[in-house]
Amino acid sequence: MKLNDNYDNLEQSYLFSTVNKKVKEYAEKNPDKKIIRLGIGDVTRPLCKTVIEAMHKAVDEMGAQETFRGYGPEQGYDFLRTAIQGYYKKHNVDLCLDEIFISDGAKSDLGNILDLFDKDNKVIVPDPVYPVYADTNIMAGREVHFMNANGENEFLPLPDKSFKADIIYLCSPNNPTGATYNRKQLKEWVDYANSINAVILFDSAYECFVEGVEIPHSIYEIEGAKNCAIEFCSLSKMAGFTGTRCGYTIVPIELGKLNKMWLRRQTTKFNGVPYIVQRGAEAVFTEEGQKEILENINYYKNNAQLISDTLKSCNIWHIGGKHSPYIWLKCPNNMKSWEFFDYLLENAQIVGTPGAGFGKNGEGYFRLTSFGSYENTLEAMDRIKKLFA
Ligand code: MLT
Repeated sequence: MKLNDNYDNLEQSYLFSTVNKKVKEYAEKNPDKKIIRLGIGDVTRPLCKTVIEAMHKAVDEMGAQETFRGYGPEQGYDFLRTAIQGYYKKHNVDLCLDEIFISDGAKSDLGNILDLFDKDNKVIVPDPVYPVYADTNIMAGREVHFMNANGENEFLPLPDKSFKADIIYLCSPNNPTGATYNRKQLKEWVDYANSINAVILFDSAYECFVEGVEIPHSIYEIEGAKNCAIEFCSLSKMAGFTGTRCGYTIVPIELGKLNKMWLRRQTTKFNGVPYIVQRGAEAVFTEEGQKEILENINYYKNNAQLISDTLKSCNIWHIGGKHSPYIWLKCPNNMKSWEFFDYLLENAQIVGTPGAGFGKNGEGYFRLTSFGSYENTLEAMDRIKKLFA
């Protein structure tokens, strides 16, 4: 037996596991302190009423002989794929059902998709970004090239035409910075990818936070994108499914063999998302469901505004929070990311995510999430004001 030595090339533990470990140690030593968690982007609002009703109904169906269901289609039930098709239509994107694959979340599929690609592909990943893109490639022994995202390009790198990539990761609205590509910038990426026969793996997990018409929700709003892009989305942040698990991946027919390969991969390695969860997900896309989830999204946006206003009053540089639930700030007093993490935990019992955990360009930055409760966010901001105002 030989181990996959590529794992030796990874950081010792996954970013959010390291954060959790540190917080657990602190909490054990300081049981009387109230810790406020604005670290991992985990939602706190409960699932909305329409979703819960749909799930209850599905539970009852599973308990009756006539309506019980066993294995479902690996790529998802048609009722949910049709609902997602309708959702894309609102953004003027036409999809056929065979292009829509239901998943248990964007994170799994972002990793699983690599099954379709040869080891020798050249991969480009923005830095800083969600660590899963680089980590899953490193696990597969693939070399990863990083594109600098920094203040100079407003954390939105554009194609370097002198470099021929095969697999391009983009995340917009971006995790962790909240920076969001506009149509013109995305068109540059699509044209670049098409000109060199590369594939864009587009993570749109935060699209529901996009406001107005200038910023696309889906890469397929850009002409030519169906010839080069696979899109990953999730109901986690959109509808509070972080614990319930449901997402979807779009593999356009125009990508030729890739669509059939993904179907083959899923039918072999995946048994689909539970029927009850898919019925809940379907309810998200109803008129009532959309109204209810918007209330939750607006609740988080209100928190984001509160965080941004507080940082402004403390003269702390930051971006994000507009088309995104994340606020990306420069650590005060030139602290390093993990130094600031410790400082905030020790002095204000606030947990955030160190920017350095998202890549080398994240050093000196820090991420706060607006997914906490309003009351906790308010209390955290009062504590920050006491330290920095
Ligand atoms: C984050 O905090 O970056 C996300 O919650 C992680 C994830 O979605 O897996």
